Amino acid sequence: MANGIASLRARVSRPRWRSIVACSGLAMTVTLLSGCYPGQYPLDIFREMHYQQSNRLLQADRLAVPRDAVPITGSSRTQESFAQARTMTSPTGRTPQRLEQGQAMFNVNCAVCHGSDAHGTGPVAERFAAGSANPPADLTSQRVRSRTDGELHWIITNGLGNMPPFGDLLTDDQRWQAVQVIRNYQGQ
Ligand code: HEC
Repeated sequence: MANGIASLRARVSRPRWRSIVACSGLAMTVTLLSGCYPGQYPLDIFREMHYQQSNRLLQADRLAVPRDAVPITGSSRTQESFAQARTMTSPTGRTPQRLEQGQAMFNVNCAVCHGSDAHGTGPVAERFAAGSANPPADLTSQRVRSRTDGELHWIITNGLGNMPPFGDLLTDDQRWQAVQVIRNYQGQ
């Protein structure tokens, strides 16, 4: 009898687990695809609300920011142009520990598109093919190899084409770690 119940439970709970896994996989994909800016990303599914300035009901209009004000909190996006970023290098250099941390970050934030081998064939890459959109780059390709560290850091920060900007999602330090991870994939 006890066995009978156990096997019944096993039968009932298996499909439920399967659908929970499927749902969380879908939710993760959607979150990643929309983890950029509202309505700007070609594959946006849900509009992103992290960055909106919510006004409460009957709240007075917000005052405009004074001219020439400089943000001292919040976004860590860089102000340099792509050309200016060319010669920039990591302020902390490359260490085995930073590579390890960066790899963990890459697995969470980048592998879904670029693949865990960085060849641009992550699970979401198929969505680009289906939408005839420029696919995730092969980070070991000649084109990416020939970019400077500063250029890679700038692209990760500000985005490029279908590459979403990570300036507001990762710290400056994490983005330099990402550069080290890419170089490591390139055998450098
Ligand atoms: C939603 C999918 C997606 C995610 C997530 C993503 N990328 Fe990309 N990435 C792309 C696409 C697509 C391109 C190609 C852009 C183009 O050419 O339009 C690209 C291009 C790049 C390039 C530029 C290659 C070149 O030289 O042209 C770099 C560097 C890069 N990604 C690094 C990263 C890193 C590091 C992460 C994680 C922090 C990441 N990407 C996360 C989709 C993604």
